[in-house]
Order: sequence, then C-alpha cells, then structure tokens
Amino acid sequence: MSGPADRVTVVSGGASGIGLGVAKRFKEAGHPVAIFDVQADLVAQAADELGVLGLVADVGDRAAVDAAIEQIRAELGPITIMITSAGINAEGKITEITQDEWDRAIRINLTGTFNCIQPVVPDMIEAGWGRIVTISSMAGQTAAPERPHYAASKAGVIGLTKALSADLSPHGITVNTIPPSIVHTPMAEAGIGAAGIEAMASMVPVRRVSYPEDIAAACEFLCSDDAGFITGQQINVNGGLYV
Ligand SMILES: NC(=O)c1ccc[n+]([C@@H]2O[C@H](COP(=O)([O-])OP(=O)(O)OC[C@H]3O[C@@H](n4cnc5c(N)ncnc54)[C@H](O)[C@@H]3O)[C@@H](O)[C@H]2O)c1
Repeated sequence: MSGPADRVTVVSGGASGIGLGVAKRFKEAGHPVAIFDVQADLVAQAADELGVLGLVADVGDRAAVDAAIEQIRAELGPITIMITSAGINAEGKITEITQDEWDRAIRINLTGTFNCIQPVVPDMIEAGWGRIVTISSMAGQTAAPERPHYAASKAGVIGLTKALSADLSPHGITVNTIPPSIVHTPMAEAGIGAAGIEAMASMVPVRRVSYPEDIAAACEFLCSDDAGFITGQQINVNGGLYV
C-alpha cells in the first residue's frame, strides 16, 4: 500500500463478511484499525483475532456512532480512513413491504453511512488527507427486482458518495464507492445458502463469485496514496457481471 502505514482506519460492520475482510487487510498493512458493529459476540471475536479495537454501535443511532468515533479518536488518534460496510439485506415486493421495513433499510444502509462519515470529516480536513470508501451494491446501479427499499438505500449511498467527492476532494479527501455483486458472506448465505451463492458463479463472466478478500484488495488500493486521483467513482468489483 503506497503511503504511510499509520493511518487510523475505521470499518463499520467490521465484525463480519466484507467489513471483516477489510479490517484484516488494513491491520495486516500496519494501520491502527477500529471496527464497530451491532453483533457484540462477533466484535469481541474479531478484536481478539485481528488485534483491532472493537466497539459495539448501531450505525442507525447517531449518538452511538458519535460515542464510538470519540472513543476511537481518544484511543488511536485522528481518523483518516473510513470504510462503511455496515448494512442489512432487504427484500420484498412493493405491494408487500411495510413502512417500517422501508424506514429500516434507509436508516441503516443510507443514514447509517452518513452517520459514519460526517463525524470523521473534520479529522480528514485537519489532516489535509483522507480516504472514504462506501460499500454500496450493484442493486443500486441496476434494476434490482423485488427489493425497492434495499435498491433505493444503495442508490442513495452512491449519490451520497458522488456528492461528497465534489465537496471533499479539494481537501485531499477522496470518496469512492464499491458496489459489490455476489459476495460469499454470512449475509449472502442467509439469503440463498452457501450452495446457492456458488451456483451463481456461472452467471459471472470470470466464472466465480467474489469473496471479502476481493473487495478488501480494491479498498486497500483506493485508500493508498497512489489512488489520489480517483474520486467520486463507482469501482465495480463484480467479475464483469455489470459493466
Ligand atoms: N454479500 C453480498 O453479496 C453483497 C452484495 C452487495 C452489497 N453488499 C453490501 O456489503 C455490505 C457488507 O455486507 P456483507 O455481505 O459483508 O454482510 P454481513 O452480514 O456479513 O456483514 C455486515 C455487517 O454489518 C453489521 N451491521 C448490520 N446492521 C448494522 C447496524 N445497524 N450497525 C452496525 N453494524 C451493522 C452486521 O452485524 C454485520 O456484521 C453491506 O452493506 C451489504 O449491503 C453485500
């Protein structure tokens, strides 16, 4: 990774799946890493196994996120890399989903992303350098069937990413999004099962599904000094499924 290996990195949703893979990669690159997540048992496990700072916080609860960010800043220092991976899946026909299901998807996936980014921006402006990578979804790029709330929340994340790139890039802060397609994680397993995920490999031009390591590798590059001219982009790590 080009650039100093001492940049305080925060990964939301870092206790599982993509976020866990990202936390592992950044820790191995030498950065001080903190994760926060709602699954306390998995937070403790990840903190123990990876040697990262692990906190329990719901990204949809702004006061909880602010408290977690404050604790991370106090223990590790100013935050200059933020990866937002916390998110929930949501499915259902437009004729069937409830207002609560709609609100929950928007609150966690979209407002949760905003909640994680806003409190760390002052640290990045002060440093004159920052990297923000949001994990959106191919569902926010294409016509995703029977998941209007999930698709809208992820399209919102893409829009938020683009808007912030315009505002923050003059400060040396790049803001990009990775919209994954099919990643073999606990979330995907809960939806269609491990065999179901692997069966989807035939749809993907590279003939395999992706793994957290694929997303983490792209994330590491986007957070390097070498990627300083890449901002406001959707970096499609999807095996060519959507181009
Ligand atoms: N797996 C896929 O195929 C896929 C595809 C496209 C996009 N994504 C997106 O990637 C991101 C990571 O998903 P994943 O597949 O690694 O799933 P995952 O369930 O393995 O990991 C998501 C993590 O986010 C945490 N989380 C959920 N709600 C939270 C909240 N309110 N506050 C804090 N943490 C919360 C979960 O506890 C979990 O640890 C999500 O935003 C998801 O929408 C995943």
